[in-house]
Amino acid sequence: MATGSIRPRFITFEGGEGVGKSTQVRRLANRLNTHGIPVVRTREPGGTPKAEAIRSFILQGKPESWGVGAEAVLFAAARLDHVNALIAPSLTAGKWVICDRFADSTRAYQGLTGGVDDKLIDALEHLALNGNTPDLTVILDMDPDIAFERVRQRELEEGIPAIGDRFEKEDLGFHRRLRDNFLAIAIANPGRCVVLSADTDEDVLAEAVWRAVADHFPDLGQEGLTG
Ligand code: TYD
Repeated sequence: MATGSIRPRFITFEGGEGVGKSTQVRRLANRLNTHGIPVVRTREPGGTPKAEAIRSFILQGKPESWGVGAEAVLFAAARLDHVNALIAPSLTAGKWVICDRFADSTRAYQGLTGGVDDKLIDALEHLALNGNTPDLTVILDMDPDIAFERVRQRELEEGIPAIGDRFEKEDLGFHRRLRDNFLAIAIANPGRCVVLSADTDEDVLAEAVWRAVADHFPDLGQEGLTG
């Protein structure tokens, strides 16, 4: 199938812990691939060697080790490299980019939930994105009590010790505020963000993601790719 007339797009997935972002990122990338659309799948924090290095020292630290302002700066530093070295060049090369978490995570975790000033968050976002705002952000929404139960269940099934990274150790109240704050970001950015309930079967959610992508990018339908 000829896909040459379809402009490459930058799609991000956001939401709390355990809502199934990584699975949905993979499924969307695979579905676009089956239509002949080249996709770069990536994640934050990380995505490039420098950003992965920053990831490992933020996420393995103790909660008190950095302080939320420094974390916001570190996530933005990782993002700056990720955008410059991977995201922008991939889009220029005609590839779609799908990223598991991006700047809305800094706004939700460090900004709205962590209390870092809006103006600093805006400035860091301006610096790191350098104009590369996502074309579509899919926010996967789920009650954190249910999400945590799912994570616990998965860890039991897979025999993973339930340690979690530094953010997963935050209390449930934090995660409830986080959920509200992602929803607030969606309300503030209605042209870019779509909220989907993640409290459903994986296949049903994958179909909802696909419909959201098809609705958002009508040129996919014009090429006959969204059936
Ligand atoms: P990760 O293991 O990728 O979690 P998840 O599977 O939930 O995406 O760890 C990323 C953690 O870092 C997650 O708890 C969210 C947090 N984070 C921020 O606090 N700010 C940010 O800007 C980003 C990108 C992530």
